[in-house]
This record gives sequence, structure tokens and C-alpha cells, in this order.
Amino acid sequence: MTEDQKKGVQFEGKEAYVKDVFTEIAEYYDEMNEIMSMHMVQGWHKFMMKKAGDISGKKCLDVGTGTGEIAFHVARKAGSGSTVVGVDITPRMLELAARKESGLDLPVKIEWREGDALDLDFPDGSFDLVTSGYMLRNVTDIQKAVCEMYRVLAPGGKVVVAELSKPDNKLIRFFYDIYMKRIKKKGRKYDKGKVIDGRQPAYDWLTASIEGFPYGEDMVAIFRKAGFEDARFYVKSFGAVNIYVGSR
Ligand SMILES: C[S@@+](CC[C@H](N)C(=O)[O-])C[C@H]1O[C@@H](n2cnc3c(N)ncnc32)[C@H](O)[C@@H]1O
Repeated sequence: MTEDQKKGVQFEGKEAYVKDVFTEIAEYYDEMNEIMSMHMVQGWHKFMMKKAGDISGKKCLDVGTGTGEIAFHVARKAGSGSTVVGVDITPRMLELAARKESGLDLPVKIEWREGDALDLDFPDGSFDLVTSGYMLRNVTDIQKAVCEMYRVLAPGGKVVVAELSKPDNKLIRFFYDIYMKRIKKKGRKYDKGKVIDGRQPAYDWLTASIEGFPYGEDMVAIFRKAGFEDARFYVKSFGAVNIYVGSR
């Protein structure tokens, strides 16, 4: 493992690696997410919906939608007459999202689209809400991804983004670090330590990528630079997750 991989920052071949990671773990992604979040993930998504405000009948986009969990929340809240699109770079994740959707009774049919967060295939001002969960760590250019979210929002539109972070409190950080080591071990049971693209196994990446990744005010600065002048963040689960909110 190279130093930059350990820190979870950018490295050559990251886009292909990330795609291969999510193709590999797609089948057990949801199960592992529940374990990693200590079953708090749905609570974070409910909070995101609260921050989205009134979206009934609106046009909504979930970027890096994965297996669709946030898009399902959006669809339920936006209701019939709304438009909900889920974009992801990994086709296998989208297949699972569509399969899950077919077993749900949602008020609106979600459109699943393969696409890149760094180059969204939508005209300027297409959406009233853009959501994204735990994707930014995985992109090769965080600023560009946030700028794209801003670009596709209509004036008055909102962005609500969840991303993992690290607790600032030293005592909490001590226990958090122990917990993350356990998560890595747990992930090993799922990813079997399989080396992907000659790099680290999937759950080594998903835990290591939190290291060296901007959060809190540093991330808010990225949102402000993109144009979200009122960007702010909410700390959840003692700082293990931050929810970023802004409007165009
Ligand atoms: C940690 S998963 C999160 C999935 C989902 N948002 C959730 O809440 O469970 C990150 C997702 O981002 C996707 N992703 C990574 N880079 C991307 C990019 N450049 N464009 C679109 N999706 C991307 C991955 O394929 C993966 O499905």
C-alpha cells in the first residue's frame, strides 16, 4: 500500500479502482453499511430528508446513488408527480438499486442512470434537490463534484450531502479508532482480503479513505467555493458523519 492510499487521498487509477471496489462489494454493501454505521444509517438519511425541506412534486437527483437507499427516501418524500434520478458510475450498484426498487411500493418510479459525478449529463438548473451519500471520498476531484451539484441545481435548489468524518473530541476519537479497526476486520470477512487492481482490499479502502479526507469547515469551504454561499454542516453520531447543506 502506498502512502497516499493509506491517507485515503487521490492516487493514479482511482476511478477504475473505486468502480472495481463497488462492483466487488455490491452484493453485501447494504449489510456491511448497517454494521459499519451501528444501524444508524437510516437515521442519517431521515435527517437528510428533514434538511431537504419541502420537496413534494420536485425534481430530485441522488449522485453516487449506489444501491439506492437515499433515492428511496427522496422518492417517498417527493411523492407522485416528482422526478427522482439516481446516478452512479458502477453499473452493478445500479442493478441492485433497481432490483430493490421493484420490491418497494414507491409513489414514483426512480430513473437509474449510469454516469459520472464529475460530469453530470444534465443541463444547468435541472433539479430542485441534489443529494449524495458517502460518495465524495471516492471521486478523483471533490471540488469538481460539488461544482457539478451546484451547476445542475435550479436557483433556490438545495444540496444535502452526507459523508463520513472523524470525531474531533480526543476521547471519542480514541474509541472511534478502535471501532474502525474492528470494522476493517469485519470487512475482511466479507471482502476476504481480495486485493483489487493490485491495491488494497475493499474495506481497507473504505476505512482508510476517511483518513486525510476533508470534513467539517474544510468541506464547507469546498461547498462555498462551488457557489453554496450559505453552506453549513451538521455533526451526527459524535462526528462519525457530517451532513452538509447548502442552497443555490
Ligand atoms: C459508499 S457508496 C454510497 C452509495 C449510496 N449513496 C449510499 O448511501 O449507500 C459510493 C457510491 O459512489 C459511487 N461513485 C464513486 N465515484 C463516482 C463518480 N465519479 N460518479 C458517480 N458515482 C460514483 C460508487 O459507485 C458507489 O456506488
